[in-house]
Amino acid sequence: MEKQSPEPAQLSDVEVTAVAFGGKGIARVEGKVFFVADAVPGDVVDIEVTGDSGRYADAKITKFAKPSSLRGKSPCAFSERCGGCQWHGIPYEQQLAWKRQFVETALGRIGKVEASVPVAISGSPETLEYRNRIFLRGVFASDGGVTFGYFRRGSRDLVPVDRCAIAATTINRVLARVGSAKFSRPASLRTSTPYRMELQEIPPQPDSSGHPAGEPQVIITVYPPSPDCRDLDAFVDGLRQTEGVFWAGLIKDLKTAPLVVFDEHGQLQYHTRPGQFQQVNVSHNRMVRSLVHELVEGYNPKRILDLFCGSGNLSLGLCRSDRYVEGIEFSETAIATARENVRINKVTNALYLSGSSEKHLWKCAKKGEQFDVVIADPPREGMFKDLIPLQKIGARAIIYVSCDPATLARDLGALIRGGYQLKSVRTFDFFPNTWHVETVAVLERADGISG
Ligand SMILES: C[S@@+](CC[C@H](N)C(=O)[O-])C[C@H]1O[C@@H](n2cnc3c(N)ncnc32)[C@H](O)[C@@H]1O
Repeated sequence: MEKQSPEPAQLSDVEVTAVAFGGKGIARVEGKVFFVADAVPGDVVDIEVTGDSGRYADAKITKFAKPSSLRGKSPCAFSERCGGCQWHGIPYEQQLAWKRQFVETALGRIGKVEASVPVAISGSPETLEYRNRIFLRGVFASDGGVTFGYFRRGSRDLVPVDRCAIAATTINRVLARVGSAKFSRPASLRTSTPYRMELQEIPPQPDSSGHPAGEPQVIITVYPPSPDCRDLDAFVDGLRQTEGVFWAGLIKDLKTAPLVVFDEHGQLQYHTRPGQFQQVNVSHNRMVRSLVHELVEGYNPKRILDLFCGSGNLSLGLCRSDRYVEGIEFSETAIATARENVRINKVTNALYLSGSSEKHLWKCAKKGEQFDVVIADPPREGMFKDLIPLQKIGARAIIYVSCDPATLARDLGALIRGGYQLKSVRTFDFFPNTWHVETVAVLERADGISG
């Protein structure tokens, strides 16, 4: 006889009392913790368990018995269906308080860092239309129209959107144009196959005299279902003809994509290429960059190492003729752009290298190379298991920029056990209306440890 899987457990009138990093509401029922997707403190909900590991379980809301009084009107028509922002309509001060709490909790619980360092938080100047880069999906209709949208959270169901409340105005303008246009429909691409697209706003680009001219525009990178798929060529040509589109192309054509300015800050032009990693909130990125510069300058360093440097976003502005700056980054294309940034801005004494930060640190440690200050801005996974080479290169200070409080806390804990002291922690809200958070932590070498 066929074995039937048991019905998922259902619970009624569960009160959500807290929120966890990752955006799930926390509810406790008879000593068991439930992480409830899309719930916020104050919600009383009926839930269905979606995964159970004994003391903890994941759950989804099946019915609101009483929505939280924190829930206001969402400024986005799609927020209840699309997989993006969980916190539209929640007062911004409350969002900031939760984000600060994520960092404090992670530092205490995971890093075992004493609560002696207060966690400060800076809100974003804009809470809507702040993203200068979004990832959408597109699906062709039989008449050549294209439906754009986001996948519903945890599924591959497309939620069509004609605007995104957190995307820059220019992106929304272009989205409206391409959403109402007709393209030459691909002959063989299945209409139901959603392909991924990245839309990035760029500011007015320099004219022949080097000064920014015109309006902000959009660059579009299309990721076809398979790398050798040419079915979207005609679609890409159509995108290129769209008003407000500076460049459009397939991900595999990026070698021929133009270098564009994505920010001008402190006398420097920061460049990027379509498809390359860049921070998505330009005004907040400037705040973080300025803070990193101020912190680093406070140590008056002669030698700076920028780990996970991307295209030089955090360290380009620290280059001087009497100082050496070295950056290391996995992505060869990001390093090519970092070198263009060095050339175009006439920066001296900077060396940007492609490779693994960890291997590079070991190489430096073995050669006995020393640095005064290290900047580290790793991806979500944090640094690496072995932080010994980082301790060996003698840096007086490590400025750690993180997008994940849990891995930040883990790495800070290890560095503190290795002889560093935590001096300050500042959290930034790059991503209003979502649970994401960015943190800058400063570690100083305690007196007396040798490299
Ligand atoms: C959060 S981004 C920061 C980039 C840059 N600091 C910025 O502000 O734009 C992290 C970067 O680390 C790079 N990366 C990831 N793992 C790496 C590793 N093990 N070694 C070197 N770079 C790595 C990624 O390619 C990415 O560019």
